[in-house]
Amino acid sequence: MNPDDSRLITPDKRIEDTKEGSLRPQFLAEFIGQAKIKRNLEIFITAARQRGEAIEHVLLYGPPGLGKTTLASIVAREMGVNIKITSGPAIERPGDLAAILTNLEQGDILFIDEIHRLNRAVEEVLYPAMEDFELDIVIGKGPSARSIRLDLNKFTLIGATTRVGMLTAPLRDRFGIVERLEFYEPADLEIIVRRASGILATEIAPDASLTIAERARGTPRIANRLLKRVRDWAQIRSDGTIGIPVVEDALAGMGIDPLGLDEIDRKYLTTIITKFGGGPVGVDTIAASISEETDSLEDVVEPFLLQLGFIDRTPRGRSATPLAYRHLGIPLKIQESPQSPLFS
Ligand SMILES: Nc1ncnc2c1ncn2[C@@H]1O[C@H](COP(=O)(O)OP(=O)(O)OP(=O)(O)O)[C@@H](O)[C@H]1O
Ligand SMILES: [Mg+2]
Repeated sequence: MNPDDSRLITPDKRIEDTKEGSLRPQFLAEFIGQAKIKRNLEIFITAARQRGEAIEHVLLYGPPGLGKTTLASIVAREMGVNIKITSGPAIERPGDLAAILTNLEQGDILFIDEIHRLNRAVEEVLYPAMEDFELDIVIGKGPSARSIRLDLNKFTLIGATTRVGMLTAPLRDRFGIVERLEFYEPADLEIIVRRASGILATEIAPDASLTIAERARGTPRIANRLLKRVRDWAQIRSDGTIGIPVVEDALAGMGIDPLGLDEIDRKYLTTIITKFGGGPVGVDTIAASISEETDSLEDVVEPFLLQLGFIDRTPRGRSATPLAYRHLGIPLKIQESPQSPLFS
């Protein structure tokens, strides 16, 4: 079991989120926030449509739950083409990729999630496919093996990753469009919450939607999830309308603090502070001492704490900043003064 399964505010997808399909924006105009990416994509899409061509390969990166998959589907819909969705770990052999590529029609989109997890042999096949829309495949084995070259339809690859640093340079260089998704401002998340409550046919007070937005760690997936939990509370504890008292009760009940931090975020910070003197300490060491996985700390916990300015990430490890001490109510350790002359 993933240790994160019990964690409400993890941006990682959970089973219930698959039902979230209805909350997913379908068109660029419905996609809130990320103004720069939206503007760029709009231009690329319009230009490509005018020329009747496929758009360039797109790489989307950023923390989980910010809308990478959503954007890929939007691009397909706006371009009026099919989208084939797969992921790095799902494409095990070069032959798997070859089968996918040869089935793509002119202009189709191939979406590869977690593209940093493609294996090397598969990547090698992808290079000429991306660059020249050609596929080199080896037929047969041993001395009689020969390589043949197939022409592919011009397709668009959209890659998504939470770890752009783990992409090999040759792969990264083959994307014409590279966009980084940022955490959302509360004002944008509030619009997302209001839109979602409309779709869920739940009434919500304006201050209540803002509070949910402020506690969603800048992440639409979390905002939608909090809304659904709060809606349950409203249904059981009041008349179904979501107002501030219900939101406050529900969030407190879930252990989510005013900045949207949960138990694991606080454990991460207090561990650095109380066990490791404020840092720097390596992320593996922190992970081991709070029984979490390094990957989930790096993907989920740290990006938001960095954004808040609560931690510094240095080559020697992570340190807690004075802002983190203040938020947790832990006094900054004052440098002990040299022994008082009275006692010497
Ligand atoms: N800009 C947005 N406006 C409204 N809703 C959004 C927006 N971005 C994301 N969402 C909502 O958040 C959910 C998560 O988005 P999405 O699945 O696209 O994230 P992701 O970046 O692909 O995450 P992961 O890295 O985990 O795959 C979507 O189902 C959608 O409901
Ligand atoms: Mg996704």
